[in-house]
Amino acid sequence: MKKRLEKILTKELGREIRLERSMEGCGDYSSNIAFILTKEKKKNPNEIAEELKVKIKSDIFSKVETKNGFLNFFISEDFLKKELSLILEKEKEYGRGKIGKRVVIDYSSPNIAKSFGIGHLRSTIIGQSLYNIYQFLGWDAIGINHLGDWGTQYGKLLYQIKKEKKDPKKLSIKELEELYVRFHKEAEEDEKIEEEGRRWFAKLEKGDKEAREIWKICREKSLEEFDEIYDELGVKIDYTTGESFYEEKLTDIIEEAKKKKVAKESKGAFIIDFDEMPPAMILKSDKSTTYLTRDLAAVKYRINKFSPDFFIYEIGVDQTLHMKQLFATVEKMGWASKDKFFHVGHGMFRLKEGKFSTRRGRTIHLREVLSLAKEKAKKIIEESLSSKDISLTEKEEIAKIVGIGAIKYNDLKRHYKRDVVFDWERVITLKGDSGPYLQYTCVRCKSILEKAKGSDTEIGNLNKEEREIVKRLTQFRETVDAAADSFSPNIIAEYAFKLAKEFNYFYDKYPILGDKKKVAITKGTYIILKKALFLLTIEVPKKM
Ligand code: ARG
Repeated sequence: MKKRLEKILTKELGREIRLERSMEGCGDYSSNIAFILTKEKKKNPNEIAEELKVKIKSDIFSKVETKNGFLNFFISEDFLKKELSLILEKEKEYGRGKIGKRVVIDYSSPNIAKSFGIGHLRSTIIGQSLYNIYQFLGWDAIGINHLGDWGTQYGKLLYQIKKEKKDPKKLSIKELEELYVRFHKEAEEDEKIEEEGRRWFAKLEKGDKEAREIWKICREKSLEEFDEIYDELGVKIDYTTGESFYEEKLTDIIEEAKKKKVAKESKGAFIIDFDEMPPAMILKSDKSTTYLTRDLAAVKYRINKFSPDFFIYEIGVDQTLHMKQLFATVEKMGWASKDKFFHVGHGMFRLKEGKFSTRRGRTIHLREVLSLAKEKAKKIIEESLSSKDISLTEKEEIAKIVGIGAIKYNDLKRHYKRDVVFDWERVITLKGDSGPYLQYTCVRCKSILEKAKGSDTEIGNLNKEEREIVKRLTQFRETVDAAADSFSPNIIAEYAFKLAKEFNYFYDKYPILGDKKKVAITKGTYIILKKALFLLTIEVPKKM
C-alpha cells in the first residue's frame, strides 16, 4: 500500500514523495517533504506543507492534515474496504510481486561427517525464509546447498580412520564425529599429526583411490542423515552442489588469479592482498586448495550457469572476513561488482542452562532439539484438545508441525544478527510471541470460517478495532518488501504477531458468527496470517 500511495502522491505533487508510518494520532502515513524543500523554496516547512496539501485530490485519503511541518495522511474507509475485498478475491496471491530478476541464495550448507548441528539450523531456516520471500516478490530464486564436503578436515578424518583400522561402511555419523575429535586430541600432543591430516587431504585431492573411496562412503552417509532432517523441517533446496563439486575447476581459478595478478606467490603459497583486511590464501604451499578457492569457483560457476542479478549468502557471522575476502576477490577478478553480493551473517545459538549444554559437550545436535520440541508440543496439544477430538497419529502429526514451527519462529523472530537464546518456556507456548500462538490464531480463524461456511461476506462500516485490523492487512506487501530489502524475515514475524494480537483482541470482544463484515475480516486475517507463516517456512496444522 505504501508504495502505491507514494506513486499517487508523487504524481499529484510532481515530486518524489516518501512516506513513513505515522506516529500515534497523526493519521496513517506521514511525509517530511516540506522540510526537504525549505532550502529550495526559502519558506518554512509549515507554509510549504500547506501549499502541498491543497494539491492533493486523491480520494484514497479521507483527510490530509499539516502538523508541525509534516503532512499527515488519513486513509479513507472506502479504500480500506476495497482493499479487503481485493484480499478476499485474490486470496494467497494478494501482494505477489513480479520483479523478474534472479537471485542465488547459498544456505544451509552443513559439513559432512558431522551431525547436523544447531548452528546450521539458523542458516537453513533464515535461508529458506528469504528464498520464499524473494520468490513471492517475483524473483527467480535459486537455492544452493554448498555442502562442506572437501577440505583438510576430511584428510584428518581419513588419517584417523586408517590409523584406527575402522571399516568406513560400519561407521555411524556419531562415530565419524568422535574420530574427528580424537584426531584433534592427539594432534594437540603431537604436531606431526596435523601434518598427516594435510597429507591425506593432498592424497584425496590428487585422486588417490583408497582416499576417494572412504571419503565417498562418509559423504553418502551424511547426505542420508541430512535428507532426513530437511524432510522433517520441510525444507527443499534446489541444488546440492558442495565444495567437492568444484574440484576440477580449481586449477583454472588459480591460473586466472595468477594471470590477472590478483594472486601472488608468498613462501610457496599463493595469496591475495587487500588494502583493508588481512590477505587470503587460494593455494597452500603443499599445493592443496582452500575454502576460498572453492568459493571462488562456485561464484564463477553460478555466474555462468544462472547469470544472477544478486547473490545472498546465509552463513554465520563468524565467517564475515571470509565473505568480505570472497566478494572483494570476485571484483578484483572482474567477474562482478561486490555490490551484487550480500552476506546475511547470523548470530550464534545459545542455550539457557539446560539439557543440551552439558550432555554432549559443545555441539548441540539438531535432531535432539527437534525431538524434544515435538515432545513438548504434544503436551500443549493434550492440554488444548481433548483426546476425544483426535487420534494418536493425528496428535503426532500436529505435534510435529507445532514443535518445528516453534523452533523456526524462535529463530526468525529475532534480527539475524542477534544471537538466539534458547528458552523452552518461551519457545513452545500458546501465549505471547511464539510460533504456536500464531499457528493457533490461524487455526482459530479457519474454524470460525468453517462454521460460517455458506454465509457470504459483506463489508459494512468499520469500527475502531476492525479498522486497525484491515489497515494492518493492507500493510502486508510493504512489510514483505521491507523484509526482502533488509534480508530480515523478523520484520514479517513482528508483523504477523501484531496482526494475531489485534485479531485475538477483536475475537474476544465481539461475536463473529452471524456478522458478515466480521466474517470477512476473519477471512482476510486468515489469508494474510497463513501467507506470512508460509514466508516464515511455518506450516499450520488442521486442528490445535
Ligand atoms: N560449510 C560451511 C560451514 O559449515 C558453510 C558454507 C557456506 N557457504 C559458502 N559458500 N561458503 O561453515
